[in-house]
Amino acid sequence: MKLNVAALLALSVPCFAQQDPNAVEAGRLVFRMSCAGCHGLHATGGRGGPDLTRGTYSTGDADKDLFSVISNGVPGTEMPSFRGALEDANISRLVAYVRSLSHAGAVPVKGDRTAGEKLFWGKGSCGQCHRVGMRGTAIGPDLTRAGKQRSLAYLRESVVAPDADLTPGYATIVVVTRDGAKITGVEKGFDNFSARLIDLSGRYYSFLKDDVKSMEREYRSVMPSNYGRMFSANDLDDLLAYLASLGGER
Ligand code: HEC
Ligand code: HEC
Repeated sequence: MKLNVAALLALSVPCFAQQDPNAVEAGRLVFRMSCAGCHGLHATGGRGGPDLTRGTYSTGDADKDLFSVISNGVPGTEMPSFRGALEDANISRLVAYVRSLSHAGAVPVKGDRTAGEKLFWGKGSCGQCHRVGMRGTAIGPDLTRAGKQRSLAYLRESVVAPDADLTPGYATIVVVTRDGAKITGVEKGFDNFSARLIDLSGRYYSFLKDDVKSMEREYRSVMPSNYGRMFSANDLDDLLAYLASLGGER
């Protein structure tokens, strides 16, 4: 469909754009420019933002709730405010576009979240490195809001192929001290002169480059890479259902 942008902009747009037959298509274009970088080209989510095709939103499911989250952003998260940057008419078109996606048959989460929770704290020992709410250890990223912040596809990949898309700021640091001891852990800070890391027992280290034999930052994860084999397909679905449910409510 060819869009007449000038005509679209000239339309006097009602507060919510369902009445505008081109709203969805126009919203898609705005989405590509302003939102796809974080939410993915098709809004199914990415590293930066959650899947928006599930048809249900933590901030409320009414059009006015979507409108308000887009114009106000979510303070304290990466979701910016678009008030001022986008006209209200364009925000309404985005609402229409996002709405249209949830009718396109979003993939529901298949697994059983309670079973997944057991695997997380039990067999998977995920709590050895991750925190959810007040529980667990913050060696790796805090997963308290993982289901809200990340897409299902990203979460799945994080579990079965941790090295594929490393969470920024969580590389592996390897330091060899003057007396030959090798210390490996998760990056807490790294520059030309110093390295800070936390090892898997939770011990915190800080080194100056001049005081050690070598220090390297390696772009791999300390997270075990064998979960894809350790868990059955059903287990993985359960685990993902648990992760997807994590929205920060306590
Ligand atoms: C810099 C990255 C980034 C950009 C750009 C961005 N978002 Fe977001 N968005 C996020 C994150 C992260 C969240 C989750 C916030 C949270 O933790 O609650 C979010 C949340 C949302 C939500 C609420 C989802 C829910 O379930 O509560 C909607 C709707 C949304 N974004 C739409 C948009 C639209 C439309 C645009 C473009 C105008 C956009 N976002 C641009 C990162 C981004
Ligand atoms: C030995 C420590 C360790 C264990 C055990 C571990 N992880 Fe991780 N995990 C990490 C580290 C470090 C990262 C960040 C680097 C990366 O992207 O892999 C990470 C990243 C993640 C991410 C991506 C988070 C984000 O926001 O980008 C998810 C999801 C995740 N882990 C889930 C799990 C689950 C589920 C388990 C158990 C089945 C688990 N982890 C076990 C250390 C661990």
